[in-house]
Amino acid sequence: MDPVLTRFVREPNGHTLDFYVKNGGYEALKKALGMQPNDIIDVVTKAGLRGRGGAGFPTGLKWKFVLKDTPLPKYIACNADESEPGTFKDHVLMERNPHLLFEGCLIGCYAIGAKVAYIYIRGEFHHVQRVLEAQIEAARQAGYIGTNILGTGFDCEIYVHRGAGAYEAGEETALLESLEGKRAQPRIKPPFPAVAGLYGAPTAVNNVETLCNVPAIITNGPEWYASLGPEKNGGPKLYCVSGHVKRPGVYEATMKTTLREIIYDMAGGPRDGHTIKAVIPGGSSVPILLPHQLDIPASFDEVAKAGSMLGSAAIIVMDETTCMVWAAENLLHFYRHESCGKCTPCREGTDWLYKILRRLESGEGAMSDIDLLTNVAGNIAGKTLCPFGDAAAAPALTAVKHFRAEFEAHVREGRCPHRAGWRREPRAGAAAQGAHA
Ligand SMILES: Cc1cc2nc3c(=O)[nH]c(=O)nc-3n(C[C@H](O)[C@H](O)[C@H](O)COP(=O)(O)O)c2cc1C
Ligand code: SF4
Repeated sequence: MDPVLTRFVREPNGHTLDFYVKNGGYEALKKALGMQPNDIIDVVTKAGLRGRGGAGFPTGLKWKFVLKDTPLPKYIACNADESEPGTFKDHVLMERNPHLLFEGCLIGCYAIGAKVAYIYIRGEFHHVQRVLEAQIEAARQAGYIGTNILGTGFDCEIYVHRGAGAYEAGEETALLESLEGKRAQPRIKPPFPAVAGLYGAPTAVNNVETLCNVPAIITNGPEWYASLGPEKNGGPKLYCVSGHVKRPGVYEATMKTTLREIIYDMAGGPRDGHTIKAVIPGGSSVPILLPHQLDIPASFDEVAKAGSMLGSAAIIVMDETTCMVWAAENLLHFYRHESCGKCTPCREGTDWLYKILRRLESGEGAMSDIDLLTNVAGNIAGKTLCPFGDAAAAPALTAVKHFRAEFEAHVREGRCPHRAGWRREPRAGAAAQGAHA
């Protein structure tokens, strides 16, 4: 397919307003401002655009849910937090094609009746923030952002808000808390943000890539968009491929493309002389797939049928040199650090999982630790306030499910069998750290 979202990313000045406008930029906004807001929502619904932030929820429906009959202002909160391991697509769009995002934000705001869009960007993205702010100013000077946009009477501002760099700030209600200046901890739902979001006002929280899809839908129509992919999985999709492949990077394809094609044809496949052992198809938060499961379209629905999730479409590839106990330990190190601490199963459970995995990996674990691991993970999944708990449990649960023999080998041999001749120094007081709790 011809790239839609990454069309300009390799052009030296592809991020500038001049370049964008010369290449048809902001024409979709002009068209949208001549339409009725509800008709825009209908077009997006008919196109079948599904959110690219992880859950794949239909965007048209989300916009429809935004409370209409209210004296309160409405908002779009663009989720640009992008902190999940393996996920690095949104910052490419923002840095290399920022006006596409602004155009999506402006059309979205017009459709739901909002006058302000906030781009909530991950704290570490200083450089991207600078690019966005400079380009917002350029767009404002040219009349695309601000008051009376293109002489139509539509007013809309876009602000960039830099978060503190916490993974949990990407959860939509935690993001709203953070935008309001509070700690990024999730709210209880309902009410959903579409009814009571930012400052208690109706808010649509949309991912960067989701909003970047909107201009092409307005320009080319919903039938074109839907026809690009399998049913209910239309449009272009960005895949981030990382790990043991020759050409890691961001690739644009339709969701008809198989996981194998993305990994082998686009990202070059495993390193010479190596074979793939495991693949996490949707960022670190989803169940692991095995090599024989790669011949499925990389779509929301097909990956779910295979027992995992497309999530943020961050495909992490691990070859036979990877110790799966270590991989799970590594991920739990992340989740334990990033748990916001609001609910007990997640706060205590992620720490417990990490400790069990650490002692198993270092060869200090017992056989009973393997079942303890699945037991603790099973008591986190589905029992927490937000999906972070499920995400943290998934690596431990599926690593044991698919690679139990490897866990047992660690216990039997008293070391990591993948690192011949290597053994962690026994840690002082390892048993005393609640290790065998
Ligand atoms: C722990 C956690 C982290 C998340 N991080 C992000 C993120 O960085 N970016 C994002 O767009 N969505 C993230 N999400 C999903 C958002 O909560 C929300 O579903 C999404 O922003 C909605 O946008 P969409 O409908 O356009 O996908 C995260 C969810 C959870 C539970
Ligand atoms: S599941 Fe974890 S991250 Fe989510 S609210 Fe509970 S403690 Fe916070």
